[in-house]
Amino acid sequence: MTKPIITIDGPAGSGKSTLCRLLARALGYECLDTGAMYRAMAWHVREQGSDPLPAEALPAMIGQVEIEIQGSGENQRVLVNGRDVSREIRRPEITQLASDLSARAEVRQVLTEQQRRLGTRGGLVAEGRDMGTVVFPQAEIKFYLQADLRVRAARRWRELVQAGHEVILDEVEEDMAHRDRQDSQRALAPLRPAAEAEIIDTSRLTIEAVLARMLDRIRPGKK
Ligand code: DC
Repeated sequence: MTKPIITIDGPAGSGKSTLCRLLARALGYECLDTGAMYRAMAWHVREQGSDPLPAEALPAMIGQVEIEIQGSGENQRVLVNGRDVSREIRRPEITQLASDLSARAEVRQVLTEQQRRLGTRGGLVAEGRDMGTVVFPQAEIKFYLQADLRVRAARRWRELVQAGHEVILDEVEEDMAHRDRQDSQRALAPLRPAAEAEIIDTSRLTIEAVLARMLDRIRPGKK
């Protein structure tokens, strides 16, 4: 029997990455950050220098790229054709381009296939926007995290400042609201909770409390 797959979806700053890493550690599973794959693709497209992006050039561009994700959390390394782009993919312009590209069918198809391949052995906590709805509809356990926009923006602002980026809170909030709208209103695999997902509002919960609630759902009664 293969080990289960657990999905975590939600908007930016809802706590997906942190909870994915902690949950995976608690269960002895791998954590898959699929947003990093969309960001890596955006970095690659930007590196090819096309801005604005000619629609016909995209398929050839994305067919040739090898994206590798090693480790998770602070130790996560994202490689594009062997080059470490872990830091660069967090820059605001790559963040926005990742969201733009994620509406494109060619991009979603390539990355969805890679994500399913990484899930074949189970024992995976996968986080993103469409994990429970499209990529792993058969997943045993599904979560959807949400939080107030202001709270999410403050969390992201703090992370960016700590990583040495110079950013203004109001701008982070504006960009985030714009990206959330784009990610939830697109035609393909939009951000939304799977029917069976447990929805958790993390605005006023500590990370430990969210983790405890998730673990309780996964193995009820066990502390
Ligand atoms: O989770 P993140 O902020 O790193 O994701 C960056 C962008 O990638 C996000 O704005 C939308 C896209 N994305 C997606 O469309 N599907 C996923 N499963 C994960 C991310």
